[in-house]
Amino acid sequence: MIKVKTEQEVLLMRQAGKVAAAARRLAGEMATVGATTQSIDKRVHDFILSQGAEPSFLGYNEYPASICISINEQVIHGIPSSRKLVPGDLVSIDIGATKGGFVGDCAATFVVGEGSPKAMRLVEVTKQCFFEGLKFAKVGYRVSDISRAIQKYAEKNGYSVVREYVGHGVGSKVHEPPEVPNYVERPRRKPDPRLMPGMTLAVEPMINAGGAAIRVLDDGWTVITADGECSAHYENTILITKGEPEILTADEEDS
Ligand code: MF3
Ligand code: CO
Repeated sequence: MIKVKTEQEVLLMRQAGKVAAAARRLAGEMATVGATTQSIDKRVHDFILSQGAEPSFLGYNEYPASICISINEQVIHGIPSSRKLVPGDLVSIDIGATKGGFVGDCAATFVVGEGSPKAMRLVEVTKQCFFEGLKFAKVGYRVSDISRAIQKYAEKNGYSVVREYVGHGVGSKVHEPPEVPNYVERPRRKPDPRLMPGMTLAVEPMINAGGAAIRVLDDGWTVITADGECSAHYENTILITKGEPEILTADEEDS
C-alpha cells in the first residue's frame, strides 16, 4: 500500500530531507584527493547526529556504515573503508537521515580533483536524468512516466540504466512502496500506480557508461558494473503535490 503523507508528516519529511541534503553537500566537499571514504562516513555520521537526526542506513539490513560510497565502476552500496580518493575518482555518495520518524534519502556523484570530460558528462547526464523524470512527477502521470523519461534521456546519451535496483517510496521507512524503476518494462507487468498528492518518492537514476549488467562483490553489498565501466548515481526525495513536485532534499545550489 502506498502511504499518502499528511500535512504534518510532510513537515517532518521536509526536515529530514534538509538534513540529508546538507549531509550530501558536506560529503561532496570532503570528496577530495587523499580523503579516506571512512573519514567522510565518520564526518557525515557526526553531522547527522548534530542535527538531531540519525543515519538511516546504519544497521539497515545490517549495513555497517552511515553512508554508501561507491567509486568508479562501483554503482551503489560501496562500504566506506581506508581507501584514499585519488584524482579523477568518480565518487557516488548515498545518504539517508531519519528525523522525527521520517527519512530523507539522497545521493550524488562527485568527481575528485579535475575530472575528465568523460566523467563530467556521465555525472551531468545522470543528474539530468533525475530532472527529466521530475517533469512527470505530477498528478495525471504514473510512476512509469518518470521511469520512461529517465531511461530515454540516459539511452539517448549513449548510457545504460541499471535494472536490478530501483527508486522507491520513502517515509517512515527507507523503502516503501511503490518501486520507481529507471526503465520501463515491456510488456508492462508490474503495478504502475498513478501519482497522487502526498506521495513521497526517492527517484534515483543509476546510470552506467557501458552496459547495464551489474554484479555484487563478495562483501555482499558493493554493486559494480559487469564490464568495469564507470557508473553514476543521483537521487532526491520528492513530494508529489497538486502542482509542481517539491524536492525535499534540494541542494541550495539547485533552488
Ligand atoms: N540508499 C539506498 C537507496 O536509496 C538504500 C541504502 S541501503 C543500505 O535505496 F543498506 F545501504 F542502507
Ligand atoms: Co533510495
